[in-house]
Parts: sequence; C-alpha cells; structure tokens
Amino acid sequence: QIIPVILSGGVGSRLWPVSRKQRPKPFMKLPDGDSLMSKTLKRALKLNHLNDILTVTNRDLYFTTKDEIVGTLDREGTKAAIAQHYILEPCGRNTAPAILAAALRLNALHGEHATMLVMAADHLIRNEDRFIEAVEAAKHLALDGELVTFGIKPTAPETGYGYIKALVAERDVAAKVHSFVEKPDLDTAKHYLETGEYFWNAGIFCFTAGTLIREMTLHAPDVFQQVERAMSDSQVVTYQEGTQLELDQAAFSAVQDISIDYALFERSQHVSMVPCDIGWSDIGSWGAWSDALPRDIHQNQSFGDVLSIDSSNTFVHSPHALTATLGVEDLIIINTEDALLVAHKSAEQEVRKIVTKLSDEQ
Ligand code: GDD
Ligand code: MG
Repeated sequence: QIIPVILSGGVGSRLWPVSRKQRPKPFMKLPDGDSLMSKTLKRALKLNHLNDILTVTNRDLYFTTKDEIVGTLDREGTKAAIAQHYILEPCGRNTAPAILAAALRLNALHGEHATMLVMAADHLIRNEDRFIEAVEAAKHLALDGELVTFGIKPTAPETGYGYIKALVAERDVAAKVHSFVEKPDLDTAKHYLETGEYFWNAGIFCFTAGTLIREMTLHAPDVFQQVERAMSDSQVVTYQEGTQLELDQAAFSAVQDISIDYALFERSQHVSMVPCDIGWSDIGSWGAWSDALPRDIHQNQSFGDVLSIDSSNTFVHSPHALTATLGVEDLIIINTEDALLVAHKSAEQEVRKIVTKLSDEQ
C-alpha cells in the first residue's frame, strides 16, 4: 500500500486576506466550495488499498485539520476504513524535518518498506486519473530505493520552484535525475525554460520510509539527529481512529529550518522523476485561485455578491457583502468580513508584503 503523507504548514501569504494564520491556505475554499485540504485528501482516496493517512501540521491547527479530514472521510464514506495518524509540530521547521518525522513514524508503524506519497495540502491537481497513474509509476521506482519527484513542464521562468533536469527528457517516461536546482534566480530560470530540458518540481514526492531515512542520514546528518531526538522525546497517543504524536517543544525548536529540496533533492544521487501532465497548480496567487472562474465580456471575474459597471479585467471576491466597481480596470479586490484588499493585478505576487508588514507591526 501507499501511505499519503499530507504536509500542511505554509501560510499562503499571497492569498491574504482570506488565508490567515488561524485558517491558512489549505482551508481556503475554491469556487466549487471544497477546501484545498479536502481536495488533497479526496485525491489520495483514489489510491488503491489505502489503510492509513498521515498528516503533519502545527499543533495549533490540530482541531481545524482533524475536522476537515474527518468531515471529508465521512462524506466519502471511508472514515471507518482508514487509520488517521497525526504528527503535531510545536513550530514550523520547514519540509525536511516534517517529512523525516513522517518517515520515522511510518518506519515504526509499518517498517522500512512503507511507501510514502508526500503531498502538499494546498495544491490543486485537475487531472486526478493521470496523477494516480503517475503515482503507480513512482511506486515502482520508490521500491527500488529511489527518491521520486513529479516533473511538470514549465510555462514561465518561475523563481519559486525547483527545476529538474532529467537524463531522459521524454514525456510520460520515468527518468533518472541529472540535476535538481531549488529556486534559481530569474536569469537561470529563463535559461532553463529556453533549453526545454527542465521540469518544475511539483513538490510531491514518493519514496519508502527506509530510503528517506538512509538518504537523510547521509546528506543531512545533523537534521537527522535533531529530528530523531525530538521524536524519541515525544509521546504517542492512540485513540479509536488512529494515533497522534506531538513533537517535543524544546527538542523540535532546536531542529534546523531547511526544506527537503535543499537538504536532500539537490544532494542525493538517487533521485528519479516521473514527468506528468496533470493540471497541477500550487495556487500561489489570487490569479491562480480565480483561474477557472468564468469571465464576462469585459474580462471581469467575480465570486460572491458583485456588481461591476464600466470596469474591465477585474477579479472581485466578495462572499459576505455586496461589492460594486465603477470605471476601474486591472484590479484584484478581496472583500472579507474584517479586511479588504485592493491591489493592481500586476502586483499579485507581492501581496505577501502586506502580511510581512502586518506581522512586523505586531
Ligand atoms: N507540516 C509542515 N511543516 N508543512 C510544511 C512546513 C512545515 O514546517 N513548511 C512547509 N510545509 C508545507 C506547505 O504547507 C506546503 O504544502 C508544502 O509543505 C511545500 O512548502 P512551501 O513552503 O509551499 O514550499 P515552496 O513552495 O517554497 O517550494 C516547494 O514547492 C514547489 C512547488 O509548489 C519546493 O518543493 C519546490 O521545489 C517546488 O517547486
Ligand atoms: Mg509553495
């Protein structure tokens, strides 16, 4: 069996003011009313022979997360069949410690051959059937001792992604990875795009618990020791539907903050990639969130109660009140119960500046 490991720890600061500290991006609902977390879980439920799921998240979000997961399992009629495991972090230490904690936990529960599918709680995949096929291909490589990533054909010189150069760059074939570069600068990203030889790292991974532990010991021994110590200082609580492990505060706070991309994927010799065309998006901005919404003849998109007159190319999100626009263009307007965002469309990537500024002022 494959065990989905759902990582939920990002803040989603470009989706302010809907994505907030106490209700971050995974809990945001898309226009169809379903949250990203719930969509992620439903996608995982399409895997065959599913018995367990493991979620790694901040302990402050435990009840919110569990409600979302139990609600989704209930609606899908699978609650009784699946054991829910949780690892609760006292603070975020990025993805390498979170994934390693998950591997150690699954190693203890199911042994070193436990095959993990690490998924971000806040991504969207439009073609789920093709995703499941890609996971099947990845599983075989994982059982051969590889760290498997999923490669997406890039469409822009994004600097927020990891870039993968594969030895066989054909589509739909699994390939050994030649190099992995996390978050290159703009010139490098442009070059990668032009060569046509690179893929984006989707941030979804497949490997056995044993491989991940072995490779972390080799390439990030400090992180390995720190996380192992935090795990051994932690208590596991078993309840009817599963288990919960709360990481020890003092020990986990001492763990180095590093992503799995820097800690492992840039360094390991055992990386393979499954290229896939799955309609992937990490919903990194309001533009990506509203992508599927219809447009009126003036290219306006709206969600909620919106009146637009003599306006063009706007996106207005207003689920709780009426928002009217008059004679404006190229704006993003997000009207929530306690905060209002008005931004130029060209500034959508910089919305995170507001969150930084607000937290500086606290
Ligand atoms: N539990 C937990 N704890 N989850 C975390 C933590 C943490 O400390 N930090 C991040 N996460 C979760 C986020 O919620 C997200 O779902 C996922 O791990 C990836 O983290 P991001 O912070 O969003 O990473 P990124 O966007 O900078 O880069 C990664 O994703 C890109 C694709 O979206 C990398 O893997 C890139 O190579 C990749 O291209
Ligand atoms: Mg991200």
